[in-house]
Parts: sequence; structure tokens; C-alpha cells
Amino acid sequence: MFNIGPYAIDSRVLLAPMAGVTDLPFRSICRKMGAGLVTSEMLSSDTRLWQSDKSRNRLAVAEDIGPISIQIAGSEPQMMADAARACAEQGAQIIDINMGCPAKKVCKKLAGSALLKDEALVKNILQAVVQSVDVPVTLKIRTGWDTQNKNAIQIAKIAENEGIQALTVHGRTRACRFNGEAEYDTIAEIVDNVNIPVVANGDIKSAEKAKEVITYTSAAAVMIGRGAWGRPWIFKQVKEYLEDDTLSTQPSIKQIKTIVLEHIEALHAFYGEFMGVRIARKHFTWYVQQLSVSNSTTKNFNQLETSTSQISAVQEFFARLNYHEEKAA
Ligand SMILES: Cc1cc2nc3c(=O)[nH]c(=O)nc-3n(C[C@H](O)[C@H](O)[C@H](O)COP(=O)(O)O)c2cc1C
Repeated sequence: MFNIGPYAIDSRVLLAPMAGVTDLPFRSICRKMGAGLVTSEMLSSDTRLWQSDKSRNRLAVAEDIGPISIQIAGSEPQMMADAARACAEQGAQIIDINMGCPAKKVCKKLAGSALLKDEALVKNILQAVVQSVDVPVTLKIRTGWDTQNKNAIQIAKIAENEGIQALTVHGRTRACRFNGEAEYDTIAEIVDNVNIPVVANGDIKSAEKAKEVITYTSAAAVMIGRGAWGRPWIFKQVKEYLEDDTLSTQPSIKQIKTIVLEHIEALHAFYGEFMGVRIARKHFTWYVQQLSVSNSTTKNFNQLETSTSQISAVQEFFARLNYHEEKAA
């Protein structure tokens, strides 16, 4: 357990913010499955853009999966401060600043991890945001600009001095994008150099790996992104393993069916018929990949155009799986 400002975080495994993935329905499932904190997809600090459906969806919050953490990205201190205040007014209990994203569009505007190059600007942004809100502010970074310029320790010290209440570090530089393996040495060094909770992130896809990283880095928690695609139950597995060394297996087919149905129904309800059906395709594909069954299932599913036909297809898919499982037993 650790604290972010006044909030006691009840699990040492957190969900990584992922644009296009960690919408309210997915965050809700992951939080209920044991993630201690679930952060929104990043939101531009340009509040003029918030009228779009996309931004409105990203701002949607739910009290029962708190503390509510909303992530903002941008490079203008004043705009970031205004955006943070607007998020707090909409119910954010934690503001997370994204300085970890390598996306081109973001970097062109010198946002995301490109900001790490300019330590004075980082300081100004953090100061402006922390001073603009009463809620705790957290920061997410990479280990540096590139392998020759790994300044994460310096950034971590700036963050601590400016009142950042928790720091997540993805163990890659901006230049690494998603290539190679994440490294945890820099994260361990950061933990040694600051007195705020540090969260280790990058390539953690199992309970064993989570424990290894926590032990190696002494981080307050780990954060999982891609490892949660199609298997939100990973949070329960990691939480239990970290808390009492229990290594639980994957849920039963029946339990997975309940999770998938709830997830897809929540997507339909949240986005409405047209978008809901399209977004459900991606998640169902991930679930099917986890269950390692043939691709023809997702091919058929991806052609369905209505929520009711998707729900029937999911029911049929699990009925077939159950049948095969029972036959094999
Ligand atoms: C599809 C996708 C979208 C992402 N969007 C965001 C984002 O909005 N904000 C952010 O801070 N990081 C974002 N990230 C980075 C993740 O939060 C995380 O740092 C990274 O995926 C490494 O963790 P993992 O190996 O557990 O996936 C994104 C990553 C992916 C794959």
C-alpha cells in the first residue's frame, strides 16, 4: 500500500493510461479486478478541443472506480494549468501529466517524452500545474530522451521539488519507442534518489515479472499496459502474488465469459451502437487471442454490425469453448 496525496492506493499494481484502450468501461473492469489506480487516456491540454466526442468520452469519470485520475498532455505551462483545473472541476481527484508518450504528433508540438529534453520547461509545467489545483499531481515519464541522454533522475528530482506526488517511469527512452526490452536499472536509481512513490512500468506481463521488478527496483508499485489487453484479470493475479505469494491460474471459461460479456455490453452502452460495436471488435480480438483459438472467430465477429449480433456471437463462442473443454476433460 502507498499513498498519492490523501488517497491510499489499495493495490501495488496499476493500469497504464493507453489512448484508444483505457476508456471508462475498460478502466472500470481493471479497477474491479484489482488495479489500485486506473488513469484515463491522455487528454490534450487544449481545452478548446474538449467539445469533441472523443475528448468528452476521455473525460468521463465514475466515482466507484476512484481515485479518479485524469491524464493531460501538452507543453504550455499556462494551458496545462488551465486544463488541470478544468479536469479537477469535472471530478478528477488526481491529475497525471504525460511526459512519456513518443507519438510523433505529440512530439512535434514538443509534448510527451520530447519535453524531457528541456528540463527548465518541465519545471515550469510541473510548477504551473501543481499550483493550479488542490488535488495531487502525478507525472509519467520515460528514462530520457535517448540512450545518451537518460536524464530521468534529474527529472525525478525536479518533480519531487515541485510537489509531484507520484512518478511513473517507463523503462525506455523516447528514442527506443517500443523497441527492445524495458530496463529497470534507471528505475531502481530513481527510487534511491527521491522520496516520492515511484511506479515501475514497461513489459510487465505476468505476476512473476511484476514481483521481480518490484524486488529489483524497490518501486512502490508496478504499472501494466499491454499485458492487460484481453486479460484484465492479470491485476487480480499480480495483486494476490504481491500480497501473499498466491499464484492463481487464469479464470475459468465461465468466469471469462461473464467478464467479456460485461465488457462488451458496457462498450455498447458507453459509446452507443455505432462506435460501441467498432470498439468492441478490438477488445474481443484480444480476448480471443488470450484464449488461443483460431482467427476465424474474430474475422466473423469483426463483420458484425449490431450490438445484439455481437452479444449472440460472444455467447456462441463461449458455448463452443465450453463444449470443447468439457469434451477434453
Ligand atoms: C496503444 C497505446 C496507447 C498509449 N497511450 C498512452 C497515453 O495516453 N498516455 C501515456 O502516458 N502513455 C501511453 N502509452 C504508454 C503506456 O502507458 C505504457 O507506458 C507503455 O505501454 C509501456 O507499458 P507496457 O509495456 O506495460 O505496455 C500507450 C501505450 C500504448 C501501447
